[in-house]
Amino acid sequence: MESVPLLKYLVEAGLGARRQVVSAIKQGRVAVNGKVATGYTMPIFPGLDAIAFDGKPVKFKPSEMLVFMVHKPVDVLSTTRDERGRKTVIDMLPERYRSLGLYPAGRLDYDSTGLLILTNDGNLTYRLTHPRFEHEKEYMVTTSGKLSEDDKNKLEKGILLEDGMTYPAVIREARDAAYTYSITIHEGRHRQVKRMFLSVGHEVKALKRIRIGRLELGDLEEGQIKKLSQAEIGKLLRR
Ligand code: URA
Repeated sequence: MESVPLLKYLVEAGLGARRQVVSAIKQGRVAVNGKVATGYTMPIFPGLDAIAFDGKPVKFKPSEMLVFMVHKPVDVLSTTRDERGRKTVIDMLPERYRSLGLYPAGRLDYDSTGLLILTNDGNLTYRLTHPRFEHEKEYMVTTSGKLSEDDKNKLEKGILLEDGMTYPAVIREARDAAYTYSITIHEGRHRQVKRMFLSVGHEVKALKRIRIGRLELGDLEEGQIKKLSQAEIGKLLRR
């Protein structure tokens, strides 16, 4: 369980607006584990720490888990903010989604496109990004040339990159586009797909993620966002 700042915890528990809660803390009306709280940013572990307001226990209300899929276009960063002022996935969202505390669970390169998950939930992010859960990710890749059978076999069996061997992958050639392949991997190392193709002598010209687990990008258009249902979250987590 992640910690939340005391102020956020109290606002989410319905004790008032931020200003009212700040003033209640200043007046010494809030106690944490039996001691009067002095600051409002102190980390609270919901469900573990005992919080009291005017001497009465404050019930822990977990905030709703939000999970969205977005179709990331090129030239957009999969982070929440950029020191160099480049556009982020959060900047590209309609205004009403920007203050929900969403962040990307996983990464796509600046020049890659496709399926990216945004959530406010740390556990889900962990499940999706930690290698031990091995969720499949499928990409459509356009390369600089045709893969030979030998290249394809090497990529599928596992190939040595500077950070170690890759796990077995599945590669299929697209029927309707030249030098275009679908590749399914289980890992998410930095620029992994591009490095895999480069190691057999092919530069990746375009890369689009089309699936994570059993959740497909489908016909969601570039720049669009969609809230996931419980069933879709289930698909996302299926291996
Ligand atoms: N592999 C890459 O090389 N780039 C991405 O954006 C995703 C996977």
